[in-house]
Amino acid sequence: MSDTLLTQLDAGVFSVTFNRPEKKNAFTHAMYEAATAALQEADRRDDIRVVLLSGAGGAFTAGNDIGDFVEHPPAGEDSAVFRYLRALSSMEKPVLAAVEGAAVGIGTTMLLHCDYVVAGEKARFSMPFVNLGLCAEGASSLLLPRMAGFALASELLMFGDPFSTETALRAGIINKAVPEAQLKEVATERARSLAARPMEALKVTKRLIRGPLREQVQETLKREGVEFIQRLHSDEAREALMSFMTRGRK
Ligand code: COA
Repeated sequence: MSDTLLTQLDAGVFSVTFNRPEKKNAFTHAMYEAATAALQEADRRDDIRVVLLSGAGGAFTAGNDIGDFVEHPPAGEDSAVFRYLRALSSMEKPVLAAVEGAAVGIGTTMLLHCDYVVAGEKARFSMPFVNLGLCAEGASSLLLPRMAGFALASELLMFGDPFSTETALRAGIINKAVPEAQLKEVATERARSLAARPMEALKVTKRLIRGPLREQVQETLKREGVEFIQRLHSDEAREALMSFMTRGRK
């Protein structure tokens, strides 16, 4: 689809790989666009049964590209990042993820919309929004307290510190932890196993699980989006983002 987003179909499993390893797969505008198109294609095509998200080169994704945030901040609901989140949270077919290395920001919050997540034992998750002068996104303010409870959700979203696979398991963000060397094999096996099951029954079951919260998820995405865009233009955010961009140059 593009150099920075690779797709491949094998045995009903549509692998979508974030492929910008030199930047830890940080998401650019173009990557969100390509990923949104890939998800929409997956729901449309009969030969695709499940989607498997992963990152190339030992990282899942370092989240939104910080330079992109500064130079082309999302301006509204129609921005690429929000369209990606809407597409992911509206998927009818199962979405799995294999997480290795860093899963930062949207790299963690996108997992809340996945149906099965396997992570390498050494993966590092984080939602550093507050530390960047930003706020919760990806409907994490709605979903994480439900999955992890208020105490842990508040801790992870407010302190924004990196956390381990063990904590991700405790928070209900991931299903399974495996040694890095087995990640690909286990994720592929799980994806193929799901892809081999009756498709309509799977889709109905996903709809029954996610359906009751779908409207609220969409409303939350909108509400968070408004706050997030305002925050991006705040002095707090500008300072934090610039400090990441100029690190090492001081
Ligand atoms: N946006 C833009 N560039 C990013 C990036 C991001 N979100 N995350 C990593 N990169 C770049 C780094 O600037 C570096 O580029 P360089 O080699 O040109 O200097 C390269 O990717 C490798 O990153 P580095 O920080 O050297 O790797 P690391 O293994 O030491 O740390 C992270 C990995 C992900 C922990 C660290 O890069 C990080 O904290 N990134 C920022 C994550 C973030 O805040 N995302 C936004 C969330 S809203």
